[in-house]
Amino acid sequence: MSIILSLETSCDESAAALVSDEKGKIDLIGNEIASQVEEHANWGGVVPEIASRRHLENLPFLIEKVFAKSKLQIKDIDAVAATVTPGLAGSLLVGSITARTLANLHQIPFLGIHHLEGHLSSIYLSANHPKPPFLVLLVSGGHTELIKVDSQHKYQRLGRSHDDAAGEAFDKVARLMGLSYPGGPAIQKIAENGDPKKFLFPKGRVSKPGGGFYPYDFSFSGLKTAVFRQIEKLKSENKNLPIEDIAASFENVVAEVLVERSLRCVLDQGLNSLVLVGGVAANNRLRKMMSSQASQNSIKVALAPMEFCTDNAAMIGAAALLRLSLSDTQSSMELGVSARWPLEKSDLLYDLNPPF
Ligand code: KG4
Ligand code: ZN
Repeated sequence: MSIILSLETSCDESAAALVSDEKGKIDLIGNEIASQVEEHANWGGVVPEIASRRHLENLPFLIEKVFAKSKLQIKDIDAVAATVTPGLAGSLLVGSITARTLANLHQIPFLGIHHLEGHLSSIYLSANHPKPPFLVLLVSGGHTELIKVDSQHKYQRLGRSHDDAAGEAFDKVARLMGLSYPGGPAIQKIAENGDPKKFLFPKGRVSKPGGGFYPYDFSFSGLKTAVFRQIEKLKSENKNLPIEDIAASFENVVAEVLVERSLRCVLDQGLNSLVLVGGVAANNRLRKMMSSQASQNSIKVALAPMEFCTDNAAMIGAAALLRLSLSDTQSSMELGVSARWPLEKSDLLYDLNPPF
């Protein structure tokens, strides 16, 4: 059995978790999160300088708490992991330096984790998770990607957003409607009382240079503009803003686009299994629509457990355990952090000569 202390500080959630694995089954021992969302909400989005300072203040307490609650001590730990890419560089540094310091002091391995591999690994925290090959729809505040997982750690990106990520679209549209940050939960809440068919917003497509469209790619910036224009039109007509209907229609079209393109990709690839992860995977309309339409196409869907959709350290620990169990992998203490790095090259995070 291995026990891992994992840290997540890539954006606006400071988090520490303890996870273990026994005979390939991953167990969560403890999971602590300090969200900075309320503070960033004052600014309408994440302020990088504030985020890194708060990580620095929060992390020692979170680590202390996760050990105290689980009645474990650092001497019981086999490795320490932290997110090292992608994310806000100053924020990533806090988690990465903390993890490397602990690993060095206690002479245990350090593993740098790719944040998207973390999101992908959230599915292994559910009881009946699928095994590769499968297609993953990863929808978060920074990414909207369709990733084919051929075997453990072998990734192929088949689709992506060319502008805003799905979560970013939720956040920006919420702002247009005067709702709080983060926009996803705020829109979901008011959309419950709205008519999802009231407004026909566009399903953004990405044109190919020679004609036609990229079948698995996404574009959400036109949708955001369409919502903006609709709001302006209603205001100019001095009409009351039906924000419930606008929210429901927006949420519905985002879910439709994500579901249609993901299912088409699964079928075209000859797969029969789809995994949904990331902050936007917490959206109820998306979860329901994906499950029902997939079952009509005889596709199995695995939804990341609700509590592990948005950023957390348990998913980083799960990713670390999977790396550790396959080949006793560890990262060099020289591994730094990077704001961007492709998921397809995440094996290089375990190279003796790290890429950053
Ligand atoms: O995965 P995550 O916590 O952070 C990133 O890695 O980006 O995702 C955060 C994003 C935000 O844009 C937030 O608005 C969105 O996920 N989100 C949601 C919901 N909960 C969070 N979007 C739609 N519906 C939700 N229930
Ligand atoms: Zn994330």
